[in-house]
Amino acid sequence: MTNDILIIGGGVVGLAIAVELRLRGASVTLLCRDFHAAASHAAAGMLAPQAEQIPPGAMLDLCWRSRSLYPEWTRKLEEISGKPTGYWACGILAPVYEDVGAHGCAPLQENNSSPAYYLDKEAIHLYQPGLSEAVEGGWWYPEDAQVDNRALTLALWSAAESLGVDLHDGIAVEGILQHQGRVIGVQTSSGNFPADRYILASGAWSSELLPLPVRPKKGQMLSVQIPDSDRADATLQRVLYAPDVYIVPRRESRSETLRERRIIIGATSEDVGFTPYNTPAGIQALLQRAIRIYPQLQDYPIREFWWGFRPTTPDELPILGNSPCSNLTLATGHYRNGILLAPITAKLIADLVWEQKSEPLLDSFSYLRFMRGSRERFGAGSRGKRAEETKRLGAEEQESNNCQLSTKNQLPITNYQLPITNNSQMQTLDLPQQQSLDRPLVIADRTFSSRLMTGTGKYRNVEEMQQSVVASGCQIVTVAVRRVQTKAPGHENLAEALDWTKLWMLPNTAGCQTAEEAIRVARLGREMAKVLGQEDNNFVKLEVIPDPKYLLPDPIGTLQAAEQLVKEGFAVLPYINADPMLAKRLEEVGCVTVMPLASPIGSGQGLKTTANIQIIIENSGVPVVVDAGIGTPSEAAQAMELGADALLINTAIAQAKNPPAMARGMKLATEAGRLAYLAGRIPIKDYAIASSPLSGTVTS
Ligand code: FAD
Ligand code: GLY
Repeated sequence: MTNDILIIGGGVVGLAIAVELRLRGASVTLLCRDFHAAASHAAAGMLAPQAEQIPPGAMLDLCWRSRSLYPEWTRKLEEISGKPTGYWACGILAPVYEDVGAHGCAPLQENNSSPAYYLDKEAIHLYQPGLSEAVEGGWWYPEDAQVDNRALTLALWSAAESLGVDLHDGIAVEGILQHQGRVIGVQTSSGNFPADRYILASGAWSSELLPLPVRPKKGQMLSVQIPDSDRADATLQRVLYAPDVYIVPRRESRSETLRERRIIIGATSEDVGFTPYNTPAGIQALLQRAIRIYPQLQDYPIREFWWGFRPTTPDELPILGNSPCSNLTLATGHYRNGILLAPITAKLIADLVWEQKSEPLLDSFSYLRFMRGSRERFGAGSRGKRAEETKRLGAEEQESNNCQLSTKNQLPITNYQLPITNNSQMQTLDLPQQQSLDRPLVIADRTFSSRLMTGTGKYRNVEEMQQSVVASGCQIVTVAVRRVQTKAPGHENLAEALDWTKLWMLPNTAGCQTAEEAIRVARLGREMAKVLGQEDNNFVKLEVIPDPKYLLPDPIGTLQAAEQLVKEGFAVLPYINADPMLAKRLEEVGCVTVMPLASPIGSGQGLKTTANIQIIIENSGVPVVVDAGIGTPSEAAQAMELGADALLINTAIAQAKNPPAMARGMKLATEAGRLAYLAGRIPIKDYAIASSPLSGTVTS
């Protein structure tokens, strides 16, 4: 039996849509990997288009419409679920430390129907007792409000449940199956779920399933408890919103065991991927800023710390509406305002899905704004866990012809445009099935169809280098930052020598003997990539090599430098000895690949570390790129047959008698090895087994 509509994601967005569609008569299934991991539980619950200074335009319209839906929407939810939502039209006060007067820092949205009042020092202190003496004035937004987002999310879940939505927590969607421009099912940790229509509402994790530019932006938070001894008239009665911190007093919560009032303090905004946990620095900064505005907080008991991941997009606007698949709708990327936007998102998406009514406002939030010049369809996805890769290949072979498993980002490399693709592996439908089911290589959310990386060093001349790079079909070219800096031979005109609109630069720290040097050079590398037009290139191939004879990397220095560079927002690809423990540690600190050596750099000795590389591959959750020592295409193929995700080959190409020919040989070998790995080799046996078996043949 198929369900009418299947929703992926159990945060406020997915749940609000589920409830709305169910109320309109749809049959709805909702799958959620982890209800409690949703940003919706981590948020502050401010309904704050004015305090958040959303500039005039479609986004502000969307926010206002949603804020105005809130009173009735929460009333209805409370009625259906029997649970409170904590909606509170408390208004938001935005204190400032310098008296700039009503015209000095007028809110962006001055000329609209939502009022904003400037309060001078006397007025603000009268209005809100307890503010620090340093507060010189502030803006009062009476129509901004708040909801207790945790209570809201629970109320939504209960409402969905009592309305008969088929709710599943703990089920992860692993892939979206597509066939001829339609989604035909989702593959999950508990089997396949078919439906007529699908809605993607998986928040910050959306790019794991589709090539959408949605990334996590981490926010740390904490809460304190208002002591009973505080006089009721002196406690906070409204949200305080400063540029670097906000303080959100909740109404009293009542349970059988607990009767208390909390204040939520938030939030950091960190570009650290899905790095979990609170940090001392994050919490310290929040507390300092909060106490600066509202000093009496300093004595309140701390109740809780937590963190969450805002789903952000390059323009910080949500992605709403149609997708390239005719029966798949998108509702993601709500960034800092997903709680606020839940009711309007639910309404507009239900109008679209259930009544085929598309409001013009939705046009401003179409995914198409990121897809200029690229194919408007999603294709095969990324690498998953290694063991699943081959299993899935087999399973899908039986299951369907021409059907694509789309898991991760595949479209964009830069500006969300297609990478150079003479390799049409991703335009899958007309290719042999085995190839079509491979996933592209994904490193730090960037997708590459080529699994061979090359370099620019050691060539006899620039022309050979240019021809070889083209012949190799590579998309990632590593460049030694130091050699470019010192204008070493072959590195003088790097900007002109290669087409950096089609190639992704991988700056490397070759020549660095210590962690400190490597960190410095990595920073220069990032600037170098910017100069070449790759503004958002944060990749670095980390090499810390103190030993000039064997050129073996320093594991401790590499780990130290990697930790620091990850903190600075780099996507770190460390070059390492084939040491499985080190590989794991590097993965744990946030490296986006590991790059074990096959044998010493430039030695051409081939695969001397096979057993260890195999262990690394087996255990790695990030792509494994075999780097250094490969001398011939047969060795390249062998490394890929082991299950390496990619290879980096430089010397064997640059120093060959005919580098472009060798580059092409390496390209073909890399592809052949990959195919062999996916196909699954036959087991090695001790004795011969006839190709034409005798059993079953007719004998006279
Ligand atoms: P989420 O709430 O993150 O839910 C996504 C769901 O999808 C999760 O349940 C997850 O398990 C599930 N999922 C993901 N991948 C899969 C998969 N493959 N298969 C199945 N399920 C999957 N907004 C406001 O309006 N006001 C605020 O004051 C506010 N403060 C914030 C403070 C912080 C610290 C943070 C982090 C966010 C804040 N936000 C705020 C933003 C708001 O929380 C988000 O925009 C909103 O929660 C996004 O909702 P969502 O349903 O899209 O995503
Ligand atoms: N909207 C508040 C936050 O995202 O931190």
